[in-house]
Amino acid sequence: MHKVWEIFAILHANLIIFSAAQPATSKLHDGWWAYKDAVQGSFVPVPSFWGLVNSAWNLCAIGKRQSPVNIETSHMMFDPFLTPLRLNAGGRKISGTMYNTGRHVSFRPDKSHLVNISGGPLSYSYRLEEMRLHFGSEDNQGSEHLLNGQAFPGEVQLIHYNHDLYLNYSEAAKSPNGIAVVSMFLKIAEASNSFLNRMLVRETITRITYKHDAFLLMGLNLKELYPETSRFITYEGSLTIPPCLETASWIIMNKPVYITRLQMQSLRLLSQNQPSDIFLSMSDNMRPVQALNQRCIRTNINFTQRGRDCPNNRLQRPQYRVNEWLLK
Ligand SMILES: *[C@@H]1O[C@H](CO)[C@@H](O)[C@H](O)[C@H]1NC(C)=O
Ligand SMILES: *[C@@H]1O[C@H](CO)[C@@H](O)[C@H](O)[C@H]1NC(C)=O
Ligand SMILES: *[C@@H]1O[C@H](CO)[C@@H](O)[C@H](O)[C@H]1NC(C)=O
Repeated sequence: MHKVWEIFAILHANLIIFSAAQPATSKLHDGWWAYKDAVQGSFVPVPSFWGLVNSAWNLCAIGKRQSPVNIETSHMMFDPFLTPLRLNAGGRKISGTMYNTGRHVSFRPDKSHLVNISGGPLSYSYRLEEMRLHFGSEDNQGSEHLLNGQAFPGEVQLIHYNHDLYLNYSEAAKSPNGIAVVSMFLKIAEASNSFLNRMLVRETITRITYKHDAFLLMGLNLKELYPETSRFITYEGSLTIPPCLETASWIIMNKPVYITRLQMQSLRLLSQNQPSDIFLSMSDNMRPVQALNQRCIRTNINFTQRGRDCPNNRLQRPQYRVNEWLLK
C-alpha cells in the first residue's frame, strides 16, 4: 500500500511540473493520454487524469453527462415511441481500412461507401465515421458499458456523425446532436459474427499487430455485424476518449455479437507500440464507468410496465426480463 502511494506521489509531481511547463491548450497534448500506466518511461495521463492535464478536456473530469455508464436494467424506462434503428448501406458492400491506433482496433469505411443510420432515438441521419473495438485482457472485463455492474469481454462501437447538420466528424463532435454511437457487447462463443470474422481471422488481424499498421478490407456487409434485434437501450452521453465532449447519443443493442476464443486471444496479442518498442498489449482499453447523474436510460424493450417521466419513475422498478439471458 505504501509503495502505491509513493508511485502516485511521483506521478503527481511529474504531472504538476509538466502542466506548469506547457501551455494547457497546447496542440502537443492532443494525443497525450492513455488507458493504463506505462510499464516504463514517462508519465502519460490515465483516465482519472484526462480532465486535469488539458483545459480543453475539462469535461472528462467535471462533465455531468459522461460515458460510459453502468446500465441498471431495473432503472430503465420503456419508451414505446422508440422506433427500430434504420441502417442504410445502399444495399452495397463496403470497403475500408483497419488500423492499429495504438489504443484501439479501428475500421474506417471508404468515403465512396457511405453508410448511415436513422430512426430509433435519432432525429437526423448519421454517417458512419469509424468502428472501434474495446476489449479486455481477461473475459470478465473489456466492455466500456456495464450491464447491472457486469462487464463483457469487449464492446464494438460504431461512431457516426450528423451529416444533415454538419460537414464532417470534427465539426459534429463539438456540436449539439452531433454524434450517434451504436454499441454492441462482445461475447465469446463457438462461432463468430461473420463481419467480425473478416476482421479477426488470423491472416487479417496479424497484419495490424503494431501501432500504425493498416490493412485494407473489401466487400464487407455491415448488415452482418448487427445482431438480429430491433431492441436497444439509449441515453445521452459523451465520447469516451478525450476531449469527452457531451454530444453523443448512445444506442446499445439488446443482443451481443459473438467472436471465438481464438479471435479474442488474437486481439490480446495486438501491441500498443511500434515494433521497435516493447510489446504492450492493447487490451483493457476501456474508460471506467461514469456517474449517471440525472440522466434517463430509455429502451424499446417492452417489459410491460410503462414509465411516465424518467428520473422520478425510478421508484416503480419495472421488471426487466428480455436481457436476462445476456447476463448468463
Ligand atoms: C444514406 O445512405 C444512402 C446510401 O449510401 C444514401 O443513398 C442516402 O442519400 C443517405 N441518406 C442521407 C440522408 O444522406
Ligand atoms: C470540417 O469542417 C469545418 C467547417 O466547415 C472546417 O473548418 C474543417 O477544416 C473541416 N475539418 C476537416 C477535418 O475536414
Ligand atoms: C407491451 O407488452 C404488453 C404485454 O405483452 C402488451 O399488452 C402491450 O401492448 C405492449 N406495449 C407496446 C407499446 O408494445
